[in-house]
Amino acid sequence: MCGIVGYIGNRQAYPILLDGLRRLEYRGYDSAGLVVEKGNTVTRVRVQGKVAELAKKVGAQVLEGFCGIAHTRWATHGVPGEVNAHPHCDEEQDVFVVHNGIVENHELIKRELQQEGCKFASETDTEVIPHLIKKFLTEGASLEVAVGKALKLIKGTYAVLVIAKSDPGKIVAARQSSPLRLGIAEKEFIIASDPSAIVSHTKKIITLADGELAVINKDGYVISELQSDTIIDKKLEEIEWDMSEAEKGEYEHFMLKEIFEQPEAVKNSLRGRLLFDEGMAVLGGLKQVEDKLRKLKRLHLIACGTAYHAALVGEYMLEEYAGLSTEVCVASEFRYRKTILDPETEAVLVLSQSGETADTLAAVKEAKQKGVLTLGIVNAVGSTIAQETDAGVYNHVGPEIGVASTKAFTSQLTVLALLTIFLGRQRDMSLVMGKRIAEELRALPVKLEKVLAQSERIREIAQYYIKTTNFYYIGRKYNFPVALEGALKLKEISYIHAEGGPAGELKHGPLAMIDKNFPIMAIVPQDSVYEKNLSNLAEVKARNGRIIVLATEGDSEITKLAEEVIFIPKTLEMLTPILSVIPLQLFAYYVAVLLSKDVDKPRNLAKSVTVE
Ligand code: AGP
Repeated sequence: MCGIVGYIGNRQAYPILLDGLRRLEYRGYDSAGLVVEKGNTVTRVRVQGKVAELAKKVGAQVLEGFCGIAHTRWATHGVPGEVNAHPHCDEEQDVFVVHNGIVENHELIKRELQQEGCKFASETDTEVIPHLIKKFLTEGASLEVAVGKALKLIKGTYAVLVIAKSDPGKIVAARQSSPLRLGIAEKEFIIASDPSAIVSHTKKIITLADGELAVINKDGYVISELQSDTIIDKKLEEIEWDMSEAEKGEYEHFMLKEIFEQPEAVKNSLRGRLLFDEGMAVLGGLKQVEDKLRKLKRLHLIACGTAYHAALVGEYMLEEYAGLSTEVCVASEFRYRKTILDPETEAVLVLSQSGETADTLAAVKEAKQKGVLTLGIVNAVGSTIAQETDAGVYNHVGPEIGVASTKAFTSQLTVLALLTIFLGRQRDMSLVMGKRIAEELRALPVKLEKVLAQSERIREIAQYYIKTTNFYYIGRKYNFPVALEGALKLKEISYIHAEGGPAGELKHGPLAMIDKNFPIMAIVPQDSVYEKNLSNLAEVKARNGRIIVLATEGDSEITKLAEEVIFIPKTLEMLTPILSVIPLQLFAYYVAVLLSKDVDKPRNLAKSVTVE
């Protein structure tokens, strides 16, 4: 939900921190701040607004120092503003802290500290941390011991970076449920919420696990367990993608780049995972649980937002083609439901692009609590959810920076199709069907290019609708979740109200809203429910509703029923969502751009929702 970055080494910290914040800004951007330390002096600068405002405020000021920490915020406690921006410090401005997470018991701690005479400057939960650390420092503890003592009193989630004027040349870092990675370069270290702030300096990283604390100075680092103070030896990992993948290149926005990356993304998700002659899928990350999966009687798909919509498509795939009973639930509901799970015959599969979504992570922990096998389809390698689940499959589509998820969605559907083959061929899916799905998957990237080639036409259609204040999206079976996803794309980046629903539900209420000012986006490929959809379109036409329809190439019947028709190539019914979502992503993108919205960083949102 926020982005944090720290640097210590033999270069000036300020430019590195600023660049790091720019790469983390998609995680939260309502305020920003940094502090740079030079010997026993520290300089802190904070602003309301985006990182660009911070750079403007620093302006020509020379912020010297080889050590510093920085933060870009998505507010949880305390309105966005300079006074609530991180880094927070104690009254003597000795200890500075940047924090990603929530201190759930901050009120109690704040009251106790105030009774001891502490004065607070902000409304944030975070500010209790530097005050606690300062208290233990004053009692004679070293910075790392003081940080450890303070964090043991904290209930909640954190990734924290701490520096102190009284203990210069040192960053203390710790994590509990919020991501933190340490980049190891030549005599310098960059520690950040995610690898995008590190990869331009080094690909060698260490992922801190929950309950671990790191003490870093320019000559090295020591990582220990917070509770036991035991020093631990962590394995070095390699970031698998290049800096260029976290750059916009010639695209105006990350979202547009990621929409156009989808043919490549689907290829990457399929790479090395299809045995065409055997009609099989090879998912190495599931090898060690293969036998358990064979005995599965029911699979629970759990996710949030776009990933939840992918799970809804997966439900149709797995039931129809793998013959496996499947249930889908949003993670924020699953974690509080009294879910009846049989560890012998049921499993939980979570989907998460970031691998850090708090609700989804909580669902994994809840399932593990019940002794149930947990699987993950995750894009961010080494992320918390990837580590927490028993087994899983990576998407391998590189970083997704735009807050509105696009390539992750089509990749999740691709991996779900691979999983359908994998589980189906353990059950009664025939060699012929396995081969058929495999061949259709292999043909998808070319078909995706054909849909993307219509982008200019979709932009023209979008121009007509930028004044629209409401939109209703409809689809059936595999494309009902695509209707939900298309509506989410439009509302989250253009702020136009959009709702998705099953086409069959139109006459049970939503039809009352429809008139010439309340348009319909209808996903109507030539599939098993085509005829049913046609009658829905007729219902809308009879009420002067204006329709944009997504149809299968060559369908001349449907053109009579819609104002605009966007054609998608024919494919297996279970794979149509991978094609039908593309025009909806582009439509939302162009409407938002035409409305001059901040497409990559829409208001009130963040890329990775790492708090409840
Ligand atoms: C989708 O466009 C949104 N950005 C959001 O709904 C997102 O899909 C959701 O927060 C889940 O994120 P995850 O896949 O990283 O868990």
